[in-house]
Amino acid sequence: MAIVHNDFSLQRMNTFGLNARASLFSSPENIDALSSILEGYDYNQQPLLVMGEGSNILFKTDFEGLIVRPGMKGIELFEEDEQEVWVKVGASENWDNWIAVATENGWHGLENLSLIPGSVGSAPVQNIGAYGVELKDHFAWLDAWDLQQQKLVRFDRKECRFGYRSSTFKNESRGRYIITHITFRLDKEPHLQLDYGPVKEAFLKAGGTTPMELRAAIISIREQKLPDPTINGNAGSFYKNPLVDRAIFKCIRVDFPLIPSYPESENQVKIPAAWLIEKAGWKGKKVGNVGTWPTQPLVIVNYGGATGQEILEFSEQLRNDVDKQFGIWLEREVNVI
Ligand code: EPU
Repeated sequence: MAIVHNDFSLQRMNTFGLNARASLFSSPENIDALSSILEGYDYNQQPLLVMGEGSNILFKTDFEGLIVRPGMKGIELFEEDEQEVWVKVGASENWDNWIAVATENGWHGLENLSLIPGSVGSAPVQNIGAYGVELKDHFAWLDAWDLQQQKLVRFDRKECRFGYRSSTFKNESRGRYIITHITFRLDKEPHLQLDYGPVKEAFLKAGGTTPMELRAAIISIREQKLPDPTINGNAGSFYKNPLVDRAIFKCIRVDFPLIPSYPESENQVKIPAAWLIEKAGWKGKKVGNVGTWPTQPLVIVNYGGATGQEILEFSEQLRNDVDKQFGIWLEREVNVI
């Protein structure tokens, strides 16, 4: 049986460090415990929220309902052939710890996703990505509890409908499933992904050749550029990089010839939100205890004691200014609750 806590403090459960509370909170460690908590729970009376380590969430107020934080642990070599391994990982494992274990065991492919905060179970929801690699590149399948059918179901890669920071769990299947385990497909022989310029530079400069050294280079880049959430509360990129029609992009380029962009499709390009935010005058800006991080303005930081409402207001003013200047409406990556 899993314990259900009443009036539970979420301060240590979200990387913004916000002092919100949940009326009910539970972290079931296995499927039986999970199903027993959910049995008879009336979702219409009180909402249910599933969360991992709270690294992509902004609590505007207290949560009047049940928060379930899946507690399934374990990293298990499930199957292997000459080239690949399939490894089943519990949803509550810490993402970076899992990458450390995989790299040490010679299971390769996810090194570029080192040091991303959060749990393994949350990673597929937004198809986490960094430095030219996305979770979907090494995903085999996942197991999830279906709240509608009250049973365990399996999703393969196609069924997850992965996209840029997106999956079915963020869209049409939102709120229906609780991810319990993920099975990854990894390479025995490393194929290092060095397309991202600064990664290649840092890796080669350090004389790197191995996946472990690539992981070290990624960690060092992230530590230099991004705020440590245990010191300055944050949830990584607050907004997604917007996809913009080429026609609109050409208009913006008349005034800003140096605007960076990455081709996305025949009709669209991706523009770095950090660039738009910087040009709109919001890089390193601070209002009270909230600000954008001086070396990466896409990250909004709680410098201490800010409320969820204050962070939200700051983010909205920033978004309005970007819209005013460029006519581009940024889409949030962070979930506001
Ligand atoms: N830039 C500026 N000013 C700045 C910083 C960046 O103009 O102060 C511009 C530059 O043109 C730079 C570009 O923004 O080349 C891209 O910056 P960066 O490489 O830091 O990456 P990003 O696009 O801002 C994305 C992910 C990050 C991931 C990095 C590295 C999104 C929303 N964010 O950020 O993921 O770590 O790429 O691959 O796609 C996260 O999702 O929480 C996250 C941290």
